[in-house]
Amino acid sequence: MKGLILAGGTGSRLRPITHTGPKQLVPVANKPVIQYAIEDLRDAGITDIGVVLGEKGRGDIQRFLGDGSEFNVEITYIIQGEPLGLAHAAGCARDFVGDDDFVMYLGDNILKQGIKQFVQSFEDGDYAAGIALQHVDNPEQFGIATVDDDGTVTELVEKPNEPESNLALIGIYVFSPTIFDAIERLEPSWRGELEITDAIQHLLDDGEAIDSHVVEGWWKDTGKPEDILDANRLVLEEQPGSRNGTVEENADVRGHVDLHENARIEAGAVVRGPVSIGSGTTIAEGTYVGPYTSIGPNCTIVNAHVESSVIVGDCELTADGRFVDSLIGRGATIGSADDLLPAGQRLIVGENSQLRL
Ligand code: TTP
Repeated sequence: MKGLILAGGTGSRLRPITHTGPKQLVPVANKPVIQYAIEDLRDAGITDIGVVLGEKGRGDIQRFLGDGSEFNVEITYIIQGEPLGLAHAAGCARDFVGDDDFVMYLGDNILKQGIKQFVQSFEDGDYAAGIALQHVDNPEQFGIATVDDDGTVTELVEKPNEPESNLALIGIYVFSPTIFDAIERLEPSWRGELEITDAIQHLLDDGEAIDSHVVEGWWKDTGKPEDILDANRLVLEEQPGSRNGTVEENADVRGHVDLHENARIEAGAVVRGPVSIGSGTTIAEGTYVGPYTSIGPNCTIVNAHVESSVIVGDCELTADGRFVDSLIGRGATIGSADDLLPAGQRLIVGENSQLRL
């Protein structure tokens, strides 16, 4: 069994963060999203992993993952270029996959419970494909599967007006190499992409058996800013905390705090976990860091109150303000304008930024 992580795409819903880097490297609890996929595959015994890359951030992803040895896997890069759809991305991996079965994992997805049981369920039967499903409240917005009593898929419908079930396809699949013949027969959909659900539908039409597995625990697609914040909350909720940095006497720190090397919480700062603080970051006097916050490496936070937010890294937050549910990109500076005239907010804001003042 091989693994295939899709890390191309446009990432348009995550602008402006994705203007300067790929969304698969956005940190959730101080770990890039794509690393969760690598670890899930590895923990399911899959170490021969292809990573599909687009144009955006190709070098950044290659620099981060390298040859995979740091993560105890072996990585082969596959260039898709223009994002012509999930099935197109999968099709680019035909030579890499060869005659093996493979797990396809969308590089912006995070799962609480990993994929071991899902892979096992596929391997226990004689299936052409397996799909991971989760119960959702709004099935009209997803690809929806109907399944029979033993979990074999009977029908797939993309964003149904009158859903027959609330079992949505999430971003993890297992395929036998027959999927490549189905992909070759695809026509672009109304949105101009080769859709993986259409390819699976071809398999169904050909009479192939498709397994399904309902994933327990949470699943998150981190395609939008609010999804990153949600995923960050969910991951932090479960992390035990660590104390590799320094907590000064008279700093008020409670709850689970994951403090990386050379991070420092200074006297007079208040931190309430669950929180993750990256290496080399300083939380100075007068600062409050509240639950469900991840602050990346090499940041300085002075006077600010930050809660339920993700600060990517290399940031300076010195404004005496309250920041909640915020996603702040690398290298951002938020300072005070209090002693400047004329009075008012001073913004240098990049394309597609979102500010609520
Ligand atoms: P999506 O979130 O469906 O697409 P996107 O990355 O283009 O984002 P947006 O809609 O905000 O512009 O992609 C899911 C995952 O699959 C993500 O990790 C990117 C990857 N992908 C590819 O590798 N190739 C593709 O052609 C597409 C569409 C996505």
